[in-house]
Amino acid sequence: MRDPIKRLQDKIDLAQLGGGEKRIESQHAKGKLTARERLNLLIDAGTFEEIGMLVTHRSADFGMENQKFLGDGVVTGYGKINGRLVYVFSQDFTVFGGSLSETHAEKICKIMDLAMQNGAPLIGLNDSGGARIQEGVVSLGGYADIFHRNVMASGVIPQLSLILGPCAGGAVYSPAMTDFIMMVEHTSYMFVTGPDVVKTVTHEEVNSEELGGAATHASRSGVTQFACANEVEAIAQLKELLAFMPQNCEEDAPAISYENNGSEERLGLKDIVPENPNQPYDMREVIDGICDDNSFLEVHKDFAENIVVGFARLAGRSIGVVANQPAMLAGVLDINSSRKAARFVRFCDSFNIPLLVLVDVPGFLPGTDQEWNGIITNGAKLLYAFSEATVPKITVITRKAYGGAYDVMNSKHIGADMNYAWPSAEIAVMGASGAAKIIFRKEIKASEDPAATLAEKEQEYKDKFANPYRAAERGFVDEVILPEQTREKLIKAFSMLENKVLNLPKKKHGNIPL
Ligand code: HXC
Repeated sequence: MRDPIKRLQDKIDLAQLGGGEKRIESQHAKGKLTARERLNLLIDAGTFEEIGMLVTHRSADFGMENQKFLGDGVVTGYGKINGRLVYVFSQDFTVFGGSLSETHAEKICKIMDLAMQNGAPLIGLNDSGGARIQEGVVSLGGYADIFHRNVMASGVIPQLSLILGPCAGGAVYSPAMTDFIMMVEHTSYMFVTGPDVVKTVTHEEVNSEELGGAATHASRSGVTQFACANEVEAIAQLKELLAFMPQNCEEDAPAISYENNGSEERLGLKDIVPENPNQPYDMREVIDGICDDNSFLEVHKDFAENIVVGFARLAGRSIGVVANQPAMLAGVLDINSSRKAARFVRFCDSFNIPLLVLVDVPGFLPGTDQEWNGIITNGAKLLYAFSEATVPKITVITRKAYGGAYDVMNSKHIGADMNYAWPSAEIAVMGASGAAKIIFRKEIKASEDPAATLAEKEQEYKDKFANPYRAAERGFVDEVILPEQTREKLIKAFSMLENKVLNLPKKKHGNIPL
């Protein structure tokens, strides 16, 4: 009789090898790590517990009954990241190209169910040739089982996807429904149809990297929030991101210990906004000046750069930052920046992360491109997201807050808890020049010196409205503060709002303008 302990050990050893030495070499030759090497980097040493190591597929078509690999192309289990529980699956490209069979899907579903029931984040390491071709519709069913769970888990536990190889066809929709995607440059791609199909249908010549590589999705489509230079960097980035989040929607994000050094005054904030209101400046300097040192992690950095979003810490606590970026398109709101910010706001609200909104916005971007592609519906997404968010929400207007964009950018009227403005703030329906031309059109036309009359009327409008005081008189702005006081004011205000409870009207769910 065979030694039962040796029999077990043999199976474990075999499972560790996935598709075998040769395929592991080929994986390395492509600049990629194996499923298990990735887990070793991701999960705290000694904490990973594998589930389903001995699972094999059930297919008997196309000679599959003679090709069985323990684990069936995905390593699943749980472990800790920086001491916090996570559930994880890591697709193994060395086994049938990481393709998704019925049993592969069942393994993923099992840990998704555990993650949901136990309230801990789900992390997916994706590296797969898609549906297991030999299994046909059974594999498609497996995908749908995962998609359904992604949706059920949305807003309950954080879901994070790393794309570390191919991710094509319908397979893209599981990561797409998770909260954050990270891709690796040159070794990962995502598309619904690949270059060959594109060529047949639209006659466009495009390679995989251009069509759906990390840089493309980070800057053009916005599908991925992060593009990383290599897998090690992507895994490190994921851990950093996770540290800002709670385990689930019932908890608060972990705070790190913070010691007040005696003064929260930040004199560096004084000189960032230029005197000339038309001169750009980098809003990231304001964010860095306000938040704890080096704590800002920008999300979606290369997409819709006219708005900046990301996580930071204020006195050790996680906050989500949404800020217009005057250094790009004057910080105007357009379709992509509205979509980007709305999604981020909804994530923060789902997971109890308070919001800090920094405003310097001249309005919405005009033009046929914007109108025909739905700036109305897309701008409404951001308005909707801020309005329905019940987490503590604080706004600081650093300079311009014009027109509808004033309302949208977390104004008092849509539920902000505290609204501050710097003395440099300009809060009005529109810029002085445009306003003067409309209100005083007749006077300007009748004037002997139209240019001088326009300048005079512009000045009159500026004196009245290009400041924060009309809004402060109304209580739309709670306090006009000096830039250098901002950090201290925010620490106190977020602390004051710590126990905020706000319930939305009873409903099944709202109908966000998708
Ligand atoms: C079964 C697969 C497979 C698949 C790859 N393999 N994809 N086995 N089902 N979908 C196997 C290969 O046969 C090979 O086996 C090994 O994985 C590695 O594949 P290579 O082709 O050698 O690797 P590479 O050159 O890197 O190319 C990777 C690839 C290519 C681009 C992913 O394999 C490929 O195009 N695969 C088919 C992709 C596809 O059409 N998938 C179905 C899409 S439809 P050996 O034994 O040689 O190691 C879909 C629908 C999902 O996914 C719908 C959800 C709703």
